[in-house]
Amino acid sequence: MIGIFDSGVGGLTVVKEIFKYLPDYQIIYFGDTARLPYGTKGENFVKRYSSKISQWLIDNNVQIIVVGCHTSSAWAADSLKEKFDVPVFEMITPAIKDIIEATRNNRVGIIGTPGTIKSASFKKKLLEKDSNLKVYSQDCPLFVPLAEEGLVDGKITSEIIEKYLNPLKEKRIDTLVLACTHYPLLEKSIEQVMGDNIKIINPAVSVAKNIKVFLESNFGIQSKIEKGSDHQFFFSDEPYNFEKISHLCFDRNIKIEINDPF
Ligand code: DGL
Repeated sequence: MIGIFDSGVGGLTVVKEIFKYLPDYQIIYFGDTARLPYGTKGENFVKRYSSKISQWLIDNNVQIIVVGCHTSSAWAADSLKEKFDVPVFEMITPAIKDIIEATRNNRVGIIGTPGTIKSASFKKKLLEKDSNLKVYSQDCPLFVPLAEEGLVDGKITSEIIEKYLNPLKEKRIDTLVLACTHYPLLEKSIEQVMGDNIKIINPAVSVAKNIKVFLESNFGIQSKIEKGSDHQFFFSDEPYNFEKISHLCFDRNIKIEINDPF
């Protein structure tokens, strides 16, 4: 089983890519809706709950953990990799290669929550691989509530996107990384503001492709979904606007359970 967690419902955008690339594998999802948002919390808090949730997933027999939340990936993934024996996939490392391949002028923009941007994890990992890059970062805190209200296009949304992204446009970036679970929901509007010449990278796609390669070469991992069983979605409190967000991500109906083990 693939265990995946996020601070809430945004991780469904990561599940969407996992369903696309790994349709045969069973997943167990945990959204920490009782404690979200993670994006404005401190490093220690995010580390503590990312660790508790990972342990809970392991107790539920997952064979790999996907840190679907970018803020957890930024603050906590390195410590999770050290602490646990199961393979941990986070949202940053798999995207690095795709970003470096995408940029032509070496000018890259990273957008994410205040926590993700403050951690500078993406920037550090990119510069470790290619010190010629110019990496410009911008937090976009209003994107999460916009996506959760289903305001993924229209005038207000475009104006907010322009406010955050015009400074990146001025830096002449040619590649933009959507380093937050919610931002792929705004992708079309972001594209309209940034123009056709910008390549947009959704790290969830890079992660799903990486997991596929990993699972296919590790035959010992029995994650294939069995007939009669189903994916499981747990939330630590009622998820806000779940139907709206799940329908923005996929066509299927998802049955959820509310359970706060902490
Ligand atoms: N899931 C978070 C992330 O990807 C966004 C929502 C939150 O701040 O909790 O960083």
